Parts: sequence; structure tokens; C-alpha cells
Amino acid sequence: MAPLDGRVILVTGSAKRIGRGIALRLAQAGARVAIHYGGSAEAARTTAAECGNAPVFQANLEQVSEIARLFAQVEQHFGRIDGLVNNAARFSRIDPLKITEADWDSIHDVNLKATFFCCQQAARRMIAGDGGRIVNLSSLGGLRPWAHHAHYCASKAGVIMLTRALAKAFAPKVTVNSVAPGVIPFGDPDERIERLICATPAQRAGTAEEIADAVIYFLTATNFVTGQVLAVDGGLSQR
Ligand SMILES: NC(=O)c1ccc[n+]([C@@H]2O[C@H](COP(=O)([O-])OP(=O)(O)OC[C@H]3O[C@@H](n4cnc5c(N)ncnc54)[C@H](OP(=O)(O)O)[C@@H]3O)[C@@H](O)[C@H]2O)c1
Repeated sequence: MAPLDGRVILVTGSAKRIGRGIALRLAQAGARVAIHYGGSAEAARTTAAECGNAPVFQANLEQVSEIARLFAQVEQHFGRIDGLVNNAARFSRIDPLKITEADWDSIHDVNLKATFFCCQQAARRMIAGDGGRIVNLSSLGGLRPWAHHAHYCASKAGVIMLTRALAKAFAPKVTVNSVAPGVIPFGDPDERIERLICATPAQRAGTAEEIADAVIYFLTATNFVTGQVLAVDGGLSQR
């Protein structure tokens, strides 16, 4: 039997990049995957086809009402939800002296607020049912301070503390864990990314598949593993 045989798992922001890699690995492991996207409809359909014609759900995660609609639709389609991977996020580089309220809200609305309300929607259903597994994608930036990403670092540090607090709140039926990726580039890395790769003890960048492996670990672990953060970063957070 495949490790996730028949389990219903929603992956937010899974049209492209890391989210796509996670969705593909979950489908290979036997999960019934729900593909969520914000604006990338065509890429989402392609990923869904690669996941054995998985269903596709659109929602703007900035709106709590859209998050509620997304989970109602997933429940309506599958009749249950066993796992949630909070992958969708935003990233920007802005001098903290120049950041505006809109810049701040843009990052926090998706990275932190949406992650919380997705956890809430999932946990309500999992606790009323057979339990479940939640994995939040945080970041090396939630562990290490980056001067020109202070707003992003704060949002991802928030995801890490949310993970720990919700692990206590939702135990024992639901586990909440986090994977903190290091440098996972897509396309040609710019100079800053090249510098980070050079500073990585593993001496290379990571891949979406390596992040997906860590996500699978938390989705298949017993409820004795909860509130944990696993950095998958080639050792960069240890420097
Ligand atoms: N790549 C890295 O090096 C790296 C490093 C550290 C941490 N991470 C974390 O790992 C996760 C995946 O990284 P990634 O680089 O693959 O992410 P990404 O491409 O920046 O974003 C993933 C998806 O999030 C969705 N999204 C953003 N805002 C949304 C909104 N308002 N409503 C709905 N969906 C929204 C987008 O979906 P649509 O395209 O459909 O709009 C996007 O494709 C993120 O949590 C990221 O912070 C990545």
C-alpha cells in the first residue's frame, strides 16, 4: 500500500514550483490531491493532469471568506479532508525604511493570515472527523534575519510560532509541523541567490522534490511528531 493511500490532501498554491513538486509527490504516494491556485489557472490544470486528473480549486487566500469557500468546496468534492499543506506565499525584497502599509499587508495577508485561517478551516473538519495532518511551509527567512526582507522574515517567523501554538491547540487528533526550505531556485539564480548557494554547507541549491520528501514525512508520521520545524536547507541555517 502506498504511504498516503486514499488520503485527501489540499496543497495551496500548487500550480507551480515547490507546490507543484509537493502535489506530484503526494499523488505518487497514493494521496487524492486537491490542487489550489490563485491566478495560475493554466499551470494548475497541467499540474492536476499530472496528478491523475486531480480536481482544481481557485481562491484568493487574502480573503477569509474565500478560504472558507475553498474548504467547503474541497469537502463537497471529497467528503473529507485528511491533510493540508500550506504552501502558498508571497516574497518581496524591500528596504524596511521604505516599506509601506500595503507592502506589509500584501506579505502578511498571504503568508501569515491565510496560513492561520486555512489551519482553522482544516482543523475544524479534522477534529470533527478522524483527525489529520497539517504542514506549513515556513522559510530559512523565518529562522535567520535578512535585512531587506524584514517583513517576509517576520511573516515566516510567525508561521513557525503559529505551527508550535496550533500543535498544542489541535492535539491529539491533528498534528501541525513546518518545513523551512533553504534556497530552492527556479530558472536562473541571480547574484544574491548565487551567494546564498555558495554559503550553503551542502554547496548546492535544493529541489522541490527534497522539500516534498520532508512534507511527506510529516504527513505520514504518528501524532507523537507535532510542533516541529524541519529546515531543508543544506545546512544554511546552521551558519
Ligand atoms: N523557493 C524558495 O527558495 C523558498 C525558500 C524558502 C521558503 N519558501 C517557501 O516555500 C513555499 C513555496 O515556495 P515557492 O517559491 O514555490 O512559492 P511561490 O512560487 O512564491 O508561491 C506559491 C504560490 O502561492 C500562490 N499565492 C500567492 N498569493 C496568493 C493569493 N493571494 N491567493 C492564492 N494563492 C496565492 C501563487 O499561486 P498562483 O500562481 O496560482 O497565483 C503561487 O504560485 C512558500 O511558502 C515559500 O515562502 C520557498
